[in-house]
Amino acid sequence: MKSHRILVVDDDPAIRETLTTLLTMKNYSVTTVADGPSAIEEVKKDKYHMVITDLMLPRMNGIEIVKTLKEIDRDLQCIIITGYATVTTAVEAMKAGAFDYLMKPFNSTEVLILIQRALEFQTLQAENQQLRKNLEGRYRFDNLIGESEGLKKVCSLIERVAESDSTILILGESGTGKELVARTIHYNSLRRNKPLIPINCGAIPETLLESELFGHEKGAFTGASSTRIGRFELADGGTVFLDEIGEMSPTLQVKLLRILQQREFERVGGTKTIKVDVRIIAATNIDLEKAIQVGKFREDLYYRLNVIPIEIPPLRERTEDIPVLMEYFLNHFNRSKKKGIQGFSPEAMNLLLSYRWPGNIRELENLVERLVILRGEGVITPEDLPDKFMVSRGGEGLRYYALPESGINLRDAVEEFENNLIVQALQKAQGVKNRAAQLLSLNRTTLVEKLKKKKLDYHINA
Ligand SMILES: Nc1ncnc2c1ncn2[C@@H]1O[C@H](COP(=O)(O)OP(=O)(O)OP(=O)(O)O)[C@@H](O)[C@H]1O
Ligand SMILES: [Mg+2]
Repeated sequence: MKSHRILVVDDDPAIRETLTTLLTMKNYSVTTVADGPSAIEEVKKDKYHMVITDLMLPRMNGIEIVKTLKEIDRDLQCIIITGYATVTTAVEAMKAGAFDYLMKPFNSTEVLILIQRALEFQTLQAENQQLRKNLEGRYRFDNLIGESEGLKKVCSLIERVAESDSTILILGESGTGKELVARTIHYNSLRRNKPLIPINCGAIPETLLESELFGHEKGAFTGASSTRIGRFELADGGTVFLDEIGEMSPTLQVKLLRILQQREFERVGGTKTIKVDVRIIAATNIDLEKAIQVGKFREDLYYRLNVIPIEIPPLRERTEDIPVLMEYFLNHFNRSKKKGIQGFSPEAMNLLLSYRWPGNIRELENLVERLVILRGEGVITPEDLPDKFMVSRGGEGLRYYALPESGINLRDAVEEFENNLIVQALQKAQGVKNRAAQLLSLNRTTLVEKLKKKKLDYHINA
């Protein structure tokens, strides 16, 4: 084992020497300095596990030293050496972050026990931090951002099924977070310390997929120069995530069915039956029932997979999540790209809310990344958004408006929509009504009528 590094700070050469002899004998690696500033220099330069410092020192006292050193390396363990007269001050030092104090005169056993205890405590602290970090890692529930009823339902379902071993089928359009949900389930299940093995059934050619899933024996086919362990075997004890399950070929569907039923298979070219303990989570963005109807997906497999379906609604059906996700990704990319975008103007947010989001959260994430990079600072306005967010002419490009859960007033909404387009047309036409009417495929009189009725004219000229 690597020896622990200890820094001794004392102006008394006798104590420095005693401690060096004692600690070196016990296989600690010791460095000594005479005062605070040199100690700071040392800790900045090298990694130490522990500092043992005298309390009464010229230039900087022990408390100041502990405080400063803890700021440089908060994992550093500090022990204060004190005389009887200054014990109360030593207690102050502990409040400043020292682990404990050592009263002069001390004997060697006392010193060694204290050091051992401090180092053990340090290890425990490190382990604890690591555990907490794992918990706070990517796949806690908090990573599923959103406030909509739709997402809350998904989360409560995950919570209820995570610890069971049931097969799960995740359904949702592209970019809705199927993989994120699969990971969240695995990392909240009892299998969390075992592997999560993803397999993208769509990306691997059929001939390779079989050996990828089940492995192969040496010589099973040309090029199989050694035995290979498949992903189901690798996942033993853990979870297999079968992504894009709808793309799996009929032959492999049969083999998968057997695994689902018996949790056993043979390697390609092998005769030995291999048993595994795996949980299966599958995901798809296609309608499997339709695939069954056209003979592309086996019905028996579908029923085996569809034990607990989790359907993730598309983003346009949970518009409340849009502002929350925007803010989340804005903070994320501001931090990682070292930029300072403050937020979205109300107009920009309106456009984002009424957009259709065919690529769902992935599309939103990519957009925010691009905006953060391109704009860098300030507030995002409609001009910063790609053209597809603007209302375009013609039926096809018309904006999709997601109906909020609380409902809307249709008449007001249509009116606002119309006014907005008229104002834009007039602005583009620089007030020339003929031209504006053309932009709206209206004749001039109709536009003028509308303007009169809406009393929009005043608005434009103002
Ligand atoms: N609720 C959410 N909160 C935060 N991030 C999310 C959320 N849902 C999805 N994401 C993020 O959006 C991106 C796309 O998610 P993911 O890859 O899980 O989607 P998918 O449904 O598997 O997509 P595809 O069908 O294209 O494979 C990822 O970066 C993911 O972290
Ligand atoms: Mg995916």
